Amino acid sequence: MQPKTVSPTTLVIAGATGDLAQRKLVPALYNLALDGLLPDDFALVGFSRREFTREEFIEFLREAVDTYSRRRPIDPALWSKFTSKIAYVSGDLGAKESYEKLRQALTQFGSTSRDVVFYLATAPEFFGPAAKYLSEVGLLSGEAIATNPDAWKQSRVIVEKPFGHDLESAKKLNQELLNAMREEQIYRIDHYLGKETVQNILVFRFANGIFEPLWNHKYVSHVEITVAETIGVGTRAGYFDKSGILRDMVQNHALQLLCLVALEPPVSFEANAVRDEKVKVLRSIRKFSPEDVANKVVRGRYLAGKIGNEAVAGYLGEAGVDKKSETETYVGIEFAIDNWRWNGVPFYLRAGKRLSERVTEISVFFREAPHLFFEKFGIDQVASNVLTFQIQPDEGIFLRVNCKPPGPSVKLQGVDMEFSYGKSFGVEPPEAYERLLLDAMKGDPTLFTRNDEIEQAWAVVAPILEAWKTSKLRMPPVYGYEAGSAGPSMADELLLRRIGRGWYKS
Ligand code: BG6
Repeated sequence: MQPKTVSPTTLVIAGATGDLAQRKLVPALYNLALDGLLPDDFALVGFSRREFTREEFIEFLREAVDTYSRRRPIDPALWSKFTSKIAYVSGDLGAKESYEKLRQALTQFGSTSRDVVFYLATAPEFFGPAAKYLSEVGLLSGEAIATNPDAWKQSRVIVEKPFGHDLESAKKLNQELLNAMREEQIYRIDHYLGKETVQNILVFRFANGIFEPLWNHKYVSHVEITVAETIGVGTRAGYFDKSGILRDMVQNHALQLLCLVALEPPVSFEANAVRDEKVKVLRSIRKFSPEDVANKVVRGRYLAGKIGNEAVAGYLGEAGVDKKSETETYVGIEFAIDNWRWNGVPFYLRAGKRLSERVTEISVFFREAPHLFFEKFGIDQVASNVLTFQIQPDEGIFLRVNCKPPGPSVKLQGVDMEFSYGKSFGVEPPEAYERLLLDAMKGDPTLFTRNDEIEQAWAVVAPILEAWKTSKLRMPPVYGYEAGSAGPSMADELLLRRIGRGWYKS
């Protein structure tokens, strides 16, 4: 169990009646309460345009927990404690008066000695204005919440994704936030960093002596990262069609996974030490020329098909998608990391929607044994050892090794040494948002992204976006793939051409 936050805390959710709050944030808070992890003196303030009374807001919270909490039904005693300090402020998030109103509302919880965490779960166009107005009404400097000179430390702002649309807009947003507050107050969320197995990558690498000596180009041949979903664009076409999977999943979640696998040992488990190492990885990723984009990046878009037994529409047939859209719903990429550790080790990454199964995993492939003496049994090749971090759906870590199956003759068979969360700990891991909300309330930014990190990640994908836009004629097309398949066959071709084998399936 984690230590509790020490200070009384008020959490303000801007965009409190939206989808994210309903599906993720409110259930996460309730589950933290169930585990006794919320500060004893916890208050929640909803802040949104919708006209709600306090009672209507509490009803909204109840429905959110009833529908989306991983643990149900609601415990009545806990619920009355959880909802004892709740307020709701309705207002236009783009107008300063609303923030004045919010400041008034915050005083009812005896605001002088409280930490206040503002969660911007709004449309991205409000991130900049919200930061500005929060600052102007004194909620970020501490003026409105305390009298001591370090009072700013008591207020923090969590910023949801998307953080910018490209490098320029991400820089602009960083600047807007930094005009209103200090970097230490900004918690840019990437929910993949809150997933249990993602957090385990660093523990696994650096708390065990046996893997790190092998974790380099001498022993690792390549790395594969898969972020596959079965869902399509759903009701988010308005956002996704302007974004595409490269922006939606690769710039943030998938590159974060790559960083954690590739980084050097941080000097400590402090936020900036870890983030410094991630930034170094991002800076070492080789920049793509237009030729690289043509040769090492495969784009795809789902066609009509079947997910399980259900027939589903193709991307261009989805409500809200431009019929002439060129947006990619799949991408397969070969990255090179130009540093001592990873010289010559390709990192393959694929992310896509409407694929055959939902799976997020990272597989590290070790080079084959240097010499084999099994020729007389007709064995002249063995499979690589593969270490897989399965992030979802079944959290675990597997090591594929070659063994001899029972019997009189010598044969080789790949088997898995398996660690699964369910079996080893007998508990279901918490949702990513539980951990991240708790960390933000405690003031621990380790699992959040820093300004330079986010800009570097944009700098990695920028040349790809640029080549797609400006060198259209030289770029391969967006290949169609059937919904429910493994993605475009050209993504397999990419691996076959480069390493002589297709994508790995753990
Ligand atoms: C979000 C993306 O950040 O992550 C979505 O915007 C995607 O398009 C989602 O579906 C995936 O998250 P998870 O936790 O279900 O893997």
